Formats: sequence, C-alpha cells, structure tokens
Amino acid sequence: MTRVKPDDVRPGLYWVELGGREQPATKNLSPGISVYGEQLISHEGAEYRLWDPYRSKLAGAILNGLKGYPLAPGRRVLYLGASTGTTVSHVSDIVDVAGVVFAVEVSHRVARELLERVVKYRRNVIPIVEDARRPERYGFVYGKVDLVYSDIAQQDQTEIAISNARKYLKPGGDMLLIIKARSIDVTKEPGDVVKGEVDRLRSSGFNVSEVVDLAPYDKDHAIVSARMA
Ligand SMILES: C[S@@+](CC[C@H](N)C(=O)[O-])C[C@H]1O[C@@H](n2cnc3c(N)ncnc32)[C@H](O)[C@@H]1O
Repeated sequence: MTRVKPDDVRPGLYWVELGGREQPATKNLSPGISVYGEQLISHEGAEYRLWDPYRSKLAGAILNGLKGYPLAPGRRVLYLGASTGTTVSHVSDIVDVAGVVFAVEVSHRVARELLERVVKYRRNVIPIVEDARRPERYGFVYGKVDLVYSDIAQQDQTEIAISNARKYLKPGGDMLLIIKARSIDVTKEPGDVVKGEVDRLRSSGFNVSEVVDLAPYDKDHAIVSARMA
C-alpha cells in the first residue's frame, strides 16, 4: 500500500513512499489533472501529485536540503519565469485557495501552454504575459507579496528579481532566486558566478541565508534563499 505523510515542518509538502523511496508531492488542487505527466496518487480521499526534481528546481532544492521554505497556505507569490507551469502548479497546490500565484512569463507561445495546462484549472494562478524587466507594466498584481520566486535564465536574472522585489515584495518578505550560472558568464567557474550574484543581492539590501546547489537534478544551477531587510 502507498503511504503518504505530511512533512513535519513544511506545510503543503507531502512525502509519498513508492518503491521503497520517499518522494516529494503536493496535494492536487485540481483532482484528476496531471500538469506535466507527473504521477497522481490517491490516498484516503485526497489526491497527491508527485513532484519531480528533474522537472522542477524547487523539488530538487528541497531534496538537496533547502531549509528555508517560505511557502504555506494563504501565501501570495510573485513567480518570475513561469514557463508552462510545472513548478507554478506545485506552488499553487501549496498556497491553496486562500493564496495566489502571480505567474509572469514573457513568451506568448509558452504562456498559451501555461493557460491551457494550469490557469484553466486553478483559480489561484493569475497569468501575466509580460517582460519581468518591466514590473511597472503588470496590471494584475494587487497589494504586496510574501515571496518573489525567480527562475529566469537571463544574464541580468538577479537584477530582474531585485527590481521586482523592490516593487512588490513586502518588507521582510522572502526571495527564492534560481541562478543559472551559464546564462550569466560561460567563461567563469559556476561557483564564482553564484558568489558574485550573492554579493549583488547582499549589496542590494538582502540577507542571504542559504545557497543550495541543484546538482544532480540541474547542472550549474543554485538556489539562493534571501530576505529583504
Ligand atoms: C527555466 S524556464 C522556467 C521554468 C519554470 N520556472 C519551472 O520550474 O517550471 C525560464 C522561463 O523564463 C522565461 N523568461 C525569460 N526571460 C524572461 C523575462 N524577461 N520575463 C519573463 N519571463 C522570462 C522563459 O520564456 C522561460 O519560460
């Protein structure tokens, strides 16, 4: 029999025992719908979606020991680089109906898939088809958010996250920033690139609490957990 148990400290995160291994999962906010081919598990009247660390960097970060977990039911999240909604959908499960995910994606083609796969089934995901370099253009973000999550593989990815945080993050709010070292400088050691971006965050007034490498799930990527002072 499949066993499902809630994480001891992280609300909205579950562990499913399958094939002798514990795998992360979230409770499906749109039962019956698999967003990216992930396995659905029914257990005691609820449905859970396995969270694939090779498809979602946040799951990889959790499996690699990320301690900071600024997510919970009711949280408001500004998500930059939504793509087709793989990670957005799990964040949507966690923040649940009392929370909201503002999902920013610049590509119209990709955003169409986000709408079809995710937005159509989830009322707590609000799509914003815009360039995250222009946060002043977002029409739909109301009030401040608790978390800015950024996963944009651009050279100025850290600056983009900082400018969005300055505009929309509440004082003392959290940031989770994925750093793709190769998008910033292919000539430097990835570790040195990450250090440089962490320094950039610190000099912009963020307290950085953790840096977690995402190997083996994603090569030359790290996630940085920070808080706006
Ligand atoms: C690495 S993918 C994100 C994957 C996604 N976070 C997930 O885990 O499911 C990066 C996405 O950022 C988008 N992107 C790149 N530059 C952007 C920008 N300036 N503004 C908004 N989105 C951008 C790309 O179109 C792409 O869909």
